[in-house]
Amino acid sequence: MIVAAQMIFLQLISVISFSNDMGRTWHKYTFTDERIHVDGLLTEPGEYTHKFTLFGHRNYRDHWKLFALDLAPLVARNCTYPDDYVNVSFARNTQNSNQCHLGMRQTFEQLKEGNCLVGSEYKRVTTTELCPCTDIDYECGYGYITTSSGCKKVVGKGSPIDDIRDILDEDTTPTIPPCVNGLRKMPTQYRKVPGDQCQNDLEGKLFTIVNCSIVVTPPPPPTIHVKLLNKTNEVKIGEVLHFTAVSNSETVWSVIRTAEPKDKITTRPVKRDEISLN
Ligand SMILES: *[C@@H]1O[C@H](CO)[C@@H](O)[C@H](O)[C@H]1NC(C)=O
Ligand SMILES: *[C@@H]1O[C@H](CO)[C@@H](O)[C@H](O)[C@H]1NC(C)=O
Ligand SMILES: *[C@@H]1O[C@H](CO)[C@@H](O)[C@H](O)[C@H]1NC(C)=O
Ligand SMILES: *[C@@H]1O[C@H](CO)[C@@H](O)[C@H](O)[C@H]1NC(C)=O
Repeated sequence: MIVAAQMIFLQLISVISFSNDMGRTWHKYTFTDERIHVDGLLTEPGEYTHKFTLFGHRNYRDHWKLFALDLAPLVARNCTYPDDYVNVSFARNTQNSNQCHLGMRQTFEQLKEGNCLVGSEYKRVTTTELCPCTDIDYECGYGYITTSSGCKKVVGKGSPIDDIRDILDEDTTPTIPPCVNGLRKMPTQYRKVPGDQCQNDLEGKLFTIVNCSIVVTPPPPPTIHVKLLNKTNEVKIGEVLHFTAVSNSETVWSVIRTAEPKDKITTRPVKRDEISLN
């Protein structure tokens, strides 16, 4: 039951208004023969109470007058369960027809008409079901703002505010999650709406799985080969041949000592990485 009393400066009243149907209809009730200035209206805890205390004064020099009001007799009949009650739940918005709000579908009992008296023994039944996650259960995370085309990064590398540490004292460098079994769960630009209870996160919404296994490829074999600069292949002992290093060349030069003619060595291309002149 809802009770309302007018508190208007210098205006004396003797009538209060009450509603027993959540404010849909209002009735007047004359609670006193003498008109008073209302100073306050107290209610007992609990939404179904029909007991109120009203206090006020007639003249400013007077003491308060207290009125203990029990409006129960003004209600024709006692409510019966479950006929006078109805289960309701609130849809958060039109695009979410499953009536889930913050990942929960909450249903609770309400008086159907309200023209009856709820007994003090009545305990309202509220049921909560958890909903599967949908896009509406997520919002742009820290460092992002919501735009018509999705989440736009505004803080961090490659964004208008490059280094958040210039603004905040604390170190906000994002910690890179560890690599577990070759996979890393990298956070996305989304986060769950705070307080949202939805079940079964949408795949890839909060984390993208990154393959972080270290690919071990053997280092490429050296491709430096030696090329003879001199136009001749023949050299006497003590003479100098000049070589240059050539990458990706197929030609590998080696210097070999030949038996004939004596005291000469000959170079010739072979598949060898190193040459030595002994
Ligand atoms: C309503 O219920 C109360 C007890 O909860 C009982 O005392 C009272 O007589 C009942 N009133 C009617 C009209 O049945
Ligand atoms: C409301 O729903 C709950 C849970 O399903 C049920 O126990 C209760 O009886 C329902 N109340 C009414 C008035 O139908
Ligand atoms: C990660 O990538 C490596 C190399 O491409 C591949 O061998 C491995 O199977 C991948 N791991 C997973 C879990 O996909
Ligand atoms: C090879 O070339 C270098 C530099 O041009 C020269 O000093 C050297 O004498 C040459 N060696 C032979 C055997 O011609």
